[in-house]
Amino acid sequence: MNSGISLFISIAVAVNVLACVWLIWWTARGSAGKNPQETTHVWDGDLTEYNNPLPRWWLWLFIITILFSFVYLALYPGMGAFKGSKNWTQVSQWQAEDQAAGAALERRFASFKGKSLAQMSKDAGAMSTARNLFALNCSTCHGSDARGAKGFPNLTDKDWLWGGSEEAVYQTISQGRNGVMPGWGEVLGKDGTDNVAAYVLRLSGKPASAEAARAGMAQFTALCAACHGAEGKGNQALGAPNLTDNVWLHGSSMKDLHETIANGRTNHMPPQLERLGETKVRLLAAYVLSLSEPAHDAGP
Ligand code: HEC
Ligand code: HEC
Repeated sequence: MNSGISLFISIAVAVNVLACVWLIWWTARGSAGKNPQETTHVWDGDLTEYNNPLPRWWLWLFIITILFSFVYLALYPGMGAFKGSKNWTQVSQWQAEDQAAGAALERRFASFKGKSLAQMSKDAGAMSTARNLFALNCSTCHGSDARGAKGFPNLTDKDWLWGGSEEAVYQTISQGRNGVMPGWGEVLGKDGTDNVAAYVLRLSGKPASAEAARAGMAQFTALCAACHGAEGKGNQALGAPNLTDNVWLHGSSMKDLHETIANGRTNHMPPQLERLGETKVRLLAAYVLSLSEPAHDAGP
């Protein structure tokens, strides 16, 4: 805090407290021990009022409030930049609460150490905690229902960019992933891009010109097969999507395909291990796996 602002706040607080003290003194002045004074206010010809002293209990509350303010201002921040003798801050209180909650979570799920994610995902309590963790940490990108959006994969299907084994999903969430598709616009030119796009569309059974697709096939084999595979079924080691399943991360319109093929795509899944710790990442991995295993949700 700027020292000028600090001084201004300190003076404003002190003036407020002193004003309260003065108000008590001013209202009590002269009335102590005397009978109530009639005021000069008159309504309707003969209706007058008395100037009664404040009731004792009310006065005492007022004095206690003022004394409380001295104690409070000594212990807690209030006088400008003075931190108060307890050194309390909102941030330190939040950190302490967050740490306590983290420790409680560790204790609660300690029994799952060394067990598989599949076992974890069958535990209703663990999955209810994981659902909250997902809402808090993942839903901004993947959606609260985990069905994703354009550029953000759907986590409820069995179509995996990086693999759906326990190890792969844990790896994805803990270390993050970078999906990098280079752009081919300069190599292919406009017609070349059209042809390859037609070939890609036909790979997943969508309508496109057979002639263009035939022309695009040679280029696909030369430029794309290294990552997407000769049959276009993808490569999970690279995060290269399967192009034959009609599941689209970046859209399947001619415009979307042009953008993807000509300019490329870079997509980033941020790493979570450092931020959330192992127990939470394992809970989330088990939760993500349970989403594409409807048998777990169906119950007995
Ligand atoms: C900033 C946005 C963002 C956040 C937050 C985020 N993700 Fe992701 N996630 C992505 C993107 C983008 C991808 C796709 C990466 C790619 O294209 O290769 C992805 C991919 C994934 C995948 C791999 C899907 C597959 O098909 O292989 C999983 C699993 C996943 N995220 C889980 C999570 C979980 C669990 C969380 C919460 C801890 C989370 N994500 C938070 C953006 C995000
Ligand atoms: C270096 C490896 C690599 C090469 C070469 C490559 N791709 Fe990709 N491609 C990827 C990756 C990785 C992604 C996923 C990007 C992401 O995570 O967002 C991708 C995504 C795509 C998508 C989007 C799929 C969807 O679901 O929306 C299409 C279409 C595509 N590639 C077509 C091609 C074509 C056509 C070629 C050849 C001209 C090609 N790729 C060459 C790695 C590659």
